Amino acid sequence: IPRVKLGSQGLEVSKLGFGCMGLTGTYSSPIYEEEGISIIKEAFNKGITFFDTSDVYGPYTNEILLGKALKELPREKVQLATKFGIVQLNQGGNPIVNGKPEYVRACLEGSLKRLGLDYIDLYYQHRIDQTVPIEETIGELKKLVEEGKVKYVGLSEASADTIRRAHAVHPISALQIEWSLWTRDIEEEIIPVCRELGIGIVPYSPLGRGFFGGRAVLESVPANSSLASHPRFNEDNLKKNKILYFRLEKMAAKHQCSTAQLALAWILHQGNDVVPIPGTTKIKNLNNNIGSINVKLTEDDLEELSNAFPAQEVVGSRTWGSFESISWKYANTPAKT
Ligand code: ATR
Repeated sequence: IPRVKLGSQGLEVSKLGFGCMGLTGTYSSPIYEEEGISIIKEAFNKGITFFDTSDVYGPYTNEILLGKALKELPREKVQLATKFGIVQLNQGGNPIVNGKPEYVRACLEGSLKRLGLDYIDLYYQHRIDQTVPIEETIGELKKLVEEGKVKYVGLSEASADTIRRAHAVHPISALQIEWSLWTRDIEEEIIPVCRELGIGIVPYSPLGRGFFGGRAVLESVPANSSLASHPRFNEDNLKKNKILYFRLEKMAAKHQCSTAQLALAWILHQGNDVVPIPGTTKIKNLNNNIGSINVKLTEDDLEELSNAFPAQEVVGSRTWGSFESISWKYANTPAKT
């Protein structure tokens, strides 16, 4: 797996990362701990060195699992990314976020403990606290970098204005944000800002939460899956969205690869500064995803794929209603007083 620079501060990662969220159950039941550890180790042995988690996954159990896997891997060869900022998913209401400096520091200490590490390679603010000037949050992260507890700083779901203001306080190395064939709204404003400032882009849900791998079309959505309530997967919307999957299937046959591989190849081809982090609970799918590195697409192929997914034909919001209010479109913060 090729290696690329993420951001302009020196962070180097595998061109394909691994999103650990699903290992402790989001889209399906959590898997056994030993199984989760063996998937992480298999990913590493195949050349994936960039692992993504968050304190809120589980909550906490995802970091604990990753911590156990990391004990069996060479620390200096791994780029570990975790996040702070979502205090509570708050079932039924909007998630509670916190960007206050003292909260940032407390989270970092908790993550280090659970992961069994003495530094985090990439520490993201998971969601922006719209009540705290971004300068205050990043100011604390800057201190953590100076103390050696954090190597590089990232943002997730931040607005263009927040990215600029944050970057002025301490260089931002990566922006994590949803980007895939069926979620393209960041291309107009957010991607250009990242490129102007030399910030790497880490697309999450590059497989459309499994949709491009056939989830919900070829196999049903498990009842305990968070997808059961996701707008794009509800019965009415899915009926329409299936058409998009079948288009992808046709094109995958032409390229002699799987639909998941084609969707990943499309995002991998968006630039050297783009490092997607697909997740899976299965070794077979992990290997399939790694195979996407070898799918070569021409400019014409990329355009054909883009054209097969016109924004107006994608039905349903990209995220759950409760997450809408903390997505990048609203992620501005008050002026610093
Ligand atoms: P997120 O970033 O939100 O975790 P994603 O990476 O876009 O989402 O998609 C993750 C989903 O894709 C998982 O549900 C995973 O299911 P399995 O755990 O059953 O693999 C599914 N997935 C990942 N790779 C896949 C592949 N190669 N083929 C089919 N489904 C795949």
